[in-house]
Amino acid sequence: VQKIGVLTSGGDAPGMNAAVRAVVRAALSKNIEVFGVYDGYLGLYNNKIKQLKRHDVSDMINRGGTFLGSARFPEFKEESIRAKAIENLKEHEIEALVVIGGDGSYMGAKKLTEMGYPCIGLPGTIDNDIAGTDYTIGFHTALNTVLDAIDRLRDTCSSHNRISIVEIMGRYCGDLTMMASIGGGAEFTVIPEKEFNQDDLIQSISADVKSGKKHAIIAITEHTTKVNKLAKKIEAETGLETRATILGHTQRGGAPVAFDRILASQMGAFAVELLLQGEGGRCVGVQSNKLVHHDIIDAIENMPRPFKEDIYNLTRILA
Ligand code: F6P
Repeated sequence: VQKIGVLTSGGDAPGMNAAVRAVVRAALSKNIEVFGVYDGYLGLYNNKIKQLKRHDVSDMINRGGTFLGSARFPEFKEESIRAKAIENLKEHEIEALVVIGGDGSYMGAKKLTEMGYPCIGLPGTIDNDIAGTDYTIGFHTALNTVLDAIDRLRDTCSSHNRISIVEIMGRYCGDLTMMASIGGGAEFTVIPEKEFNQDDLIQSISADVKSGKKHAIIAITEHTTKVNKLAKKIEAETGLETRATILGHTQRGGAPVAFDRILASQMGAFAVELLLQGEGGRCVGVQSNKLVHHDIIDAIENMPRPFKEDIYNLTRILA
């Protein structure tokens, strides 16, 4: 392999820059040239491709977001669009591509691989919802951001004797909510993997309030229910003022924490190693503290992510 490409795709995640930096530096150390594809698959289709030199990734390890840019580009599902993308890569003589992103990005990488173009996927998303890895790049940074928000909400809701609902990202994965709930000491945890019964939740909160509870934090994953409406119902039922806070995109920004920087660096270098070994169509993960790689198609189609029942139980035991 003489030339490889790298792109970031889907929702950005802290640590993506560190991953790109690692791909560039590890490849250069093996005399492989690296090309950055700007704006994800959209940029790949539009041929926004530029060679990356060592200094292009200087001062990047600590920066949030992705300097390569990212985009959601559902049109990449179409074969003719992907054929143009492969044509652009071949025009630059790029032989393989490292794709850093979430499961939508893996799907793109899978499709390119099926069309005979080798891709390596790195899991980059705050959601921690990718198969074949215990942790994704960006998850721990977002977790710390959420924890910080919960700490602040606890201060103010204990001053005012209020109930605070915190809506947390994660798409349809409750990992961010569950972990933040344990770390932030939330009293109630609502996640997509468990059936949500609003009446049961309100009843439990009311029982706690009747027995003397003056404030509480409810951690809830986005898309589960309308949090402002829920706040009104809880307030009506318990008599305690209730506020909802949607953390939104604050969870996606910020400098990556140490864990994400190191994970991204290890995974980026590992992707280059795999390409050197002639591997393609693989996705990188970390499982039981070891770097691993799986068939990207297998990961998407046949590897369900095990639900962390023990973590969920702990949120209830400690509440
Ligand atoms: O996948 C990352 C994520 O932040 C999810 O947690 C969230 O549901 C989604 O992206 C938001 O997407 P957008 O930035 O396109 O609004």
